[in-house]
Amino acid sequence: MTAPRHPFRVLLAHDHLLPRIRELADRIWRDLGPEPPVLVAVVEGARVFARHLRDCLPASLPVHEIRASSYGRGTSSGGDVRVVPIDDLPVAGRDVLLIEDIVDTGRTVAALLAHLDRAGAKSCRIATLLTKPSRRVVDVPLHYTGFEIPDEFVIGFGMDYAGRYRELPDVVIYEPALEQAAWDA
Ligand code: IMP
Repeated sequence: MTAPRHPFRVLLAHDHLLPRIRELADRIWRDLGPEPPVLVAVVEGARVFARHLRDCLPASLPVHEIRASSYGRGTSSGGDVRVVPIDDLPVAGRDVLLIEDIVDTGRTVAALLAHLDRAGAKSCRIATLLTKPSRRVVDVPLHYTGFEIPDEFVIGFGMDYAGRYRELPDVVIYEPALEQAAWDA
């Protein structure tokens, strides 16, 4: 299969992402308590990361999904985060592993932690593929982090801009001017 073409600069190539995800999965497995955690992916963005992470774990665990939205069509975060559980999350009394694509200001993860706490989770650890530490507004504990990245808006590997580019295999930097030039060409 040929990789989809795009005009953007690759920040993290697919082949670079996969070994790191395996390392995170190994650490998560080593740190486990007596019971497996409930895996909860923040969709849409974290679905691809969550699938790869789950596939690297030596047990078959379902991935539950939760939705949180603070972005519209833009590339900067709004203050309000809406949390919408997609299924009946079986988190009461359980250890949860929350799986995020990217932590930017930290508001989304903070809202999700509050939600899971209200839902009765015994504990919650966070695995994020990416973090932008320079953008942090709310301090959140990140237990498993794939990569620290600079303050750039990234797409691909499940992450989108206005619903586009999730299918790109690499994490790339979104630049509107490059997109426009590619459309004009
Ligand atoms: P936060 O609440 O500011 O930490 O934003 C976290 C959420 O915003 C993530 O779950 C993503 O959905 C989205 N987000 C933040 N930065 C980016 C980015 O660079 N690309 C794509 N989505 C992003």
